Amino acid sequence: MKEPEQVQSLPCVKDARGRLLRDLRISVTDRCNFRCRYCMPREVFDENYTFLPHSSLLTFEEITRISRAFAAFGGHKLRLTGGEPLLRRDLEILIDMLVRIPGIDDIAMTTNGSLLTVERARSLRDAGLTRVSVSLDALDDDIFMAMNDVQVPVTRVLSAIEAAQTVGLSPVKVNMVVRRGFNEGQILPMAAHFRGTEQVLRLIEYMDVGNSNGWRMDDVISAEQMLALIGQHWPLRPLSAQISGEVARRYAYVDGMGEIGIIASVTQPFCSGCSRIRLTSDGQLFTCLFGDQDWDMRERVRRGDADEELVNFLTQIWGKRSDHYSEVRLAITPQRNKIEMSRIGG
Ligand code: GTP
Ligand code: 5AD
Ligand code: SF4
Ligand code: SF4
Repeated sequence: MKEPEQVQSLPCVKDARGRLLRDLRISVTDRCNFRCRYCMPREVFDENYTFLPHSSLLTFEEITRISRAFAAFGGHKLRLTGGEPLLRRDLEILIDMLVRIPGIDDIAMTTNGSLLTVERARSLRDAGLTRVSVSLDALDDDIFMAMNDVQVPVTRVLSAIEAAQTVGLSPVKVNMVVRRGFNEGQILPMAAHFRGTEQVLRLIEYMDVGNSNGWRMDDVISAEQMLALIGQHWPLRPLSAQISGEVARRYAYVDGMGEIGIIASVTQPFCSGCSRIRLTSDGQLFTCLFGDQDWDMRERVRRGDADEELVNFLTQIWGKRSDHYSEVRLAITPQRNKIEMSRIGG
């Protein structure tokens, strides 16, 4: 097959708040085999819910073309998300296509881990995947199953984390969404479990993504509260950010037993360094996780726009972007019709 021509790189384009685009998060499916109460509650995502038909999904070629335009625009990091990305068949083929794009140096994936065996992890790594984040909200089976609502036990996810680590998709980041009344009692057991391992636990403040989870500020355990709780048991000290625009604040255990991350989107927003754009599985671009406006990339790709035209389109979208939702959330939340997490992928 003829290699596509490389699109000429553009000078860096900043958005209306002076931020560069670095990171493209690609949702490869809107389906998930979990029904996490805070993301895809059963009452909404039941047997009558209509997921996207296969014909609406971007093909691997289309995802690759859009990623190439993104790379020409200066982006270098891709993250595959869902729903659950491992439900998309032949993901390795997509990764193999993405890894060949000039300028792309990091391809990560966020998964619930339920389908990640050592064999699968190895084939994903061989295709070019560099890192994985695995979601795990509790170590106690009853609590975890109440949260995922599909009876997947903790051991399955721990095996996935192990598998990823074994094949070198490391360090694995373990994402724990903390929701008051559900799993705050699991913060210490989770910290104890991952302390001293190669995996990095990241505690995530529960966010008001989408319209289905009935979010209330009272449901949030703040970063400050989480840090105080862990710090009482194992003193922590802040670490400086490794790269700008990082979502997690990092802390080291003073006793040398590794580090944890805190993602405090609600109480300590990080919009000022936000370099991310998101692509849904049906080809809509969102410039914010809490966006209520999308930009149709699929139409442009399907009608045959040239690579340069896609790059120009990105320039227009990014140039006028001024999103900073987490900084203004409490003022505008009630009026907004936001995209669901399962469609935009976190
Ligand atoms: P890398 O920096 O690539 O390692 O990944 P990451 O930490 O961005 O990835 P991950 O998908 O594991 O994200 C962790 C959590 O941060 C998820 O709950 C995301 O929803 C949340 N998050 C990621 N990006 C954003 C963002 O731009 N805004 C907000 N508010 N939350 C985000
Ligand atoms: N608040 C915070 N994090 C969330 N995630 C899903 N829904 C929410 C929410 N409402 C997390 C998942 C996963 C990542 C993609 O986003 O647990 O780790
Ligand atoms: Fe849970 Fe992630 Fe699936 Fe949402 S997409 S239901 S957070 S596993
Ligand atoms: Fe970026 Fe929007 Fe998240 Fe702020 S709220 S960090 S602008 S995605």
